[in-house]
Amino acid sequence: MGHIIYHWQSQNVKQSGVDDMVLLSKITEDAIVENLKKRYMDDYIFTYIGPVLISVNPFKQMPYFSDREIELYQGAAQYENPPHIYALTDNMYRNMMIEGENQCVIISGESGAGKTVAAKYIMGYISKVSGGGAKVQHVKDIILQSNPLLEAFGNAKTVRNNNSSRFGKYFEIQFSRGGEPDGGKISNFLLEKSRVVSQNDSERNFHVYYQLIEGASAEQKEALGIMTPDYYFYLNQSGTYKVDGTNDSKDFHETMEAMQVIGIPGDIRAQVLQIVAGILHLGNISFIEAGNYGQVESMDLLAFPAYLLAVDPNRLQEKLTSRKMDSKWGGKSESINVTLNQEQANYTRDALAKALYARVFDYLVEAINKAIQKPHEEFSIGVLDIYGFEIFQRNGFEQFCINFVNEKLQQIFIELTLKAEQEEYVQEGIKWTAIQYFNNKINPPGVMSVLDDVCATMHAKGEGADGTLLQKLQAAVGTHEHFNSWNSGFVIHHYAGKSPPPIYSCSLRSNITAWCKNVVNIVYGLDSDFIRYLFPENLNTDKKSRPTTAGSKIKKQANDLVNTLMKCTPHYIRCIKPNETKRPKDWEESRVKHQVEYLGLRENIRVRRAGFAYRRVFTKFLQRYAILTAETWPRWRGPEQQGVLHLLRSVNMDNDQYQMGRTKVFVKNPESLFLLEEMRERKFDTFARTIQKAYRRYIARKKYEQMREEASDILYNSKERRTNSINRNFVGDYLGLEQRPELRQFLAKRERVDFADSVNKFDRRFKSIKRDLILTAKGIYLIGREKVKKGPEKGQIKEVLKRKLEFGSINGISLSTRQDDFFILHETQYDSLLESNFKTEFLSLLSKRYEDVTKRKLAISFTDRLEYRVKKEGWGGGGSRVVMFQNGIGDQAQLKPTGKTLTITIGNGLPKSSMLFFFSKYTLHCYLLFGRLVMQLFHFFAAHQNGATKFSRVPKQSDIMYSSPHTQSRPPQTALPKLGFQRAPRIPTHNHSNQGNMDFLNVPDEGMSGKQRKQSIGQRPPPAPKPQPRPQGPRCRALYQYIGQDTDEISFEYNDVFDLVKEDPSGWWTGRIRGKEGLFPGNYVEKI
Ligand SMILES: Nc1ncnc2c1ncn2[C@@H]1O[C@H](COP(=O)(O)OP(=O)(O)OP(=O)(O)O)[C@@H](O)[C@H]1O
Ligand SMILES: [Mg+2]
Repeated sequence: MGHIIYHWQSQNVKQSGVDDMVLLSKITEDAIVENLKKRYMDDYIFTYIGPVLISVNPFKQMPYFSDREIELYQGAAQYENPPHIYALTDNMYRNMMIEGENQCVIISGESGAGKTVAAKYIMGYISKVSGGGAKVQHVKDIILQSNPLLEAFGNAKTVRNNNSSRFGKYFEIQFSRGGEPDGGKISNFLLEKSRVVSQNDSERNFHVYYQLIEGASAEQKEALGIMTPDYYFYLNQSGTYKVDGTNDSKDFHETMEAMQVIGIPGDIRAQVLQIVAGILHLGNISFIEAGNYGQVESMDLLAFPAYLLAVDPNRLQEKLTSRKMDSKWGGKSESINVTLNQEQANYTRDALAKALYARVFDYLVEAINKAIQKPHEEFSIGVLDIYGFEIFQRNGFEQFCINFVNEKLQQIFIELTLKAEQEEYVQEGIKWTAIQYFNNKINPPGVMSVLDDVCATMHAKGEGADGTLLQKLQAAVGTHEHFNSWNSGFVIHHYAGKSPPPIYSCSLRSNITAWCKNVVNIVYGLDSDFIRYLFPENLNTDKKSRPTTAGSKIKKQANDLVNTLMKCTPHYIRCIKPNETKRPKDWEESRVKHQVEYLGLRENIRVRRAGFAYRRVFTKFLQRYAILTAETWPRWRGPEQQGVLHLLRSVNMDNDQYQMGRTKVFVKNPESLFLLEEMRERKFDTFARTIQKAYRRYIARKKYEQMREEASDILYNSKERRTNSINRNFVGDYLGLEQRPELRQFLAKRERVDFADSVNKFDRRFKSIKRDLILTAKGIYLIGREKVKKGPEKGQIKEVLKRKLEFGSINGISLSTRQDDFFILHETQYDSLLESNFKTEFLSLLSKRYEDVTKRKLAISFTDRLEYRVKKEGWGGGGSRVVMFQNGIGDQAQLKPTGKTLTITIGNGLPKSSMLFFFSKYTLHCYLLFGRLVMQLFHFFAAHQNGATKFSRVPKQSDIMYSSPHTQSRPPQTALPKLGFQRAPRIPTHNHSNQGNMDFLNVPDEGMSGKQRKQSIGQRPPPAPKPQPRPQGPRCRALYQYIGQDTDEISFEYNDVFDLVKEDPSGWWTGRIRGKEGLFPGNYVEKI
């Protein structure tokens, strides 16, 4: 049977590898890959390196992206649940709301690694967890709909990814102060325009083309001249038209619907399609060489594109085969038409196609932005999904740009992670030595500028420019270690030589901008208003300026992007592609290793660990390791930092292994953390705890009921009852002390609270003031509030302990016979007149505690004339006051003070003889059943856990139930079993009522004779028991003093001998002492 190991930070989650690689014991690339692999094979795609999320593409739908997970990760701390993109997203969202800071997430990784899918999960999560009315819902719809639209126009099948983003996207989701996504902004860059006119083998053009061809209606097909894809030159070069698992026709309708949701009007939607089709037809125009000039091969093929682009076919021909040039003649400049050769004509055609397509794409982005833009920005979360660093056989200019940007991002990633790390140390006041991290200096500086330069001076024709470029590059960066020239191209060693260097061909044509004068010239010949709208450039004013090159544009975009990112709190997702087959569970070791290398994951861990592997805010640390020591379990009472130190010392952690920050503890090595974890593991067993809790809760419930009955007994026939005080459940702590350190400070560390409530206290003039009344095993506390008179906290309201009453000094309680809530606490010094809605409960708990501690009964008196002594103050004061109770009307007490007498008038309540109505046969039955279930579960787990002994402090004989000593009639004990004990059936074995009416469950015990025999067998005779009423069952002697921590527990002194009613495998035994039956820890006693 497989050994199940559970997630070390949350329960019931299988553990696979380490979920934070900071905890790896060896930081090598192999260890990282190994860990990722292990987790991947176990279907865990997410792993952390501190705050960085690593995501490995599973190539199948994982089950953990449902609403259940959205629920689970909401508001949870990162380490509470297994790593998940929802955890990271939730963290961003909360950071933004709490800190009021903009957040961004940089998703990186190579093509097909899962960046876009990750971005969509982020958007989905935000949309789900944030609220908002109709307007916000509309924004959410647009944000979600923008994905299929931009993917249709910006994604394509490549050899690496069937849905590869061929553009970069930075999507800002903007939020209101209330955290509702009510706006957004998309910045797009680096659209791979070259794909419009040609694709590699097995690749496709942008999805929209195939969608249109497959999904258009008959009329659309006719109007747009839609043929099969192989008809179009721009589609048939690669010979690939279909993509596995993609339904182009269905996607077409989604694309159209998305345009509609975004608010693009119907006629514009039609024009967009018209341009898309127009580009396809444009591509089919071919040229032949006639003399030295390019000439349109077939005029027929001009007709359709001219029609779709709204231009006269002859004009289109002229535009494609000639170029306008400015020339100067004797100080005058004039434009002349220069005829182009075939190659130049082809180039012009393609340039027009690319420009048109790019402008349509920009238009769509702009349309989305217009639909969701906000007049002013408040908060935002930005998602950067840029397409990946890629190296092909030969890489064009566009690839160079992409790799350039990727590298820049990698650089800021490293800088920012290190920066954040350092900042945290500074903030927390932690001493550390700066570490060396590998510096991934961006590729040779200046390549971009050289490219721009050459383009600017390049002659219109472009010939010879490539050679010029190489020469210039050689001159500018030729000595740089990351640059080599290579035949007709150049090589740049990206990522500090971590990957085989790509060779860039330096064809400069592609560096000529989309904003190409010639293209604009052509466009100005088109009659379509929409197309003109797409090209707003003013030819005349732009004449003088240097043409914008693609290179300079990208440089600007990259800089803008970096500036934006730098203003946000950054988060990172590093996507890894485990294989090239796109199949689940397929792991290509060398591929992964390569990615781990160039993503710099090892450095990432090193940076993170150089300081401290583990950090946790004090509270969380205390919570997690509370179980390690008695002082911290279940809760540390005192300054958190002290508690943390106490825990660290309890495991003897070396002083140099940790540092205490201002709010967090930093642990240096993972090994030290493992030490803590192991200790915890040993002490702690999920099942044991769960079962124990349920079991204890069950017993507690039962006890409460019993207590309620007793409480009712106290008042029975003495006091009229309020209607609502009958049948109310006892809860005990009405102040929620767990969350009230300001009140807890007056209590001892482990002091268990029986009762806590806010009460009214009346002074000598019968003026009432609020006090917090707390009853614990040690006594009664009355806490008030006072303004601080001096010191740094002057003027602040602070809690003050007004009174602490030991049980020993309490003389009794007096109450009226009426239904009011007043009672007087009589004490040796002076008395307190109090009023509490929960007096019955308080009284009951108090009388129990009182009896426990003082071994006396608490005196409770009921009269309608109560007297109480007031506190002596200064010279005057002292003396006593009288409270008179009178019959009146209504349930509200009317107070009338006259001199030293307070008259309280109140209507009649329920008769004094009202009994609590509860504990029907039915509920008893339920409890029996419930109890049995718990026990069965308990035994089940005990039997199935290898560590059964972990939580059963007594060996198997534990199921024994001893008959209670006061049960007089018992079967004669003739033949006793050899070892004296018999196994009881696995049913709840404790008493369900103190009337002893559950005796049928009992089994014969060994009785006196058995006990004596056992004693005579034992080596040393036990010390003579204290004189006690004749004991009939097994007994035990206290090895230590134990003070009951709860009302269902008993207390005893060292050496007390008392009846053992039941042993229980939970370790909580039941005993009876001084007439009280209750629970106590079995290991505090020895059986005798
Ligand atoms: N979390 C995931 N669960 C299931 N499948 C996934 C997941 N992530 C990625 N995939 C699969 O991998 C394919 C590629 O992922 P995606 O398009 O997100 O890659 P990418 O990193 O954006 O690549 P590119 O740089 O080419 O745009 C998806 O179409 C999907 O089939
Ligand atoms: Mg993508």
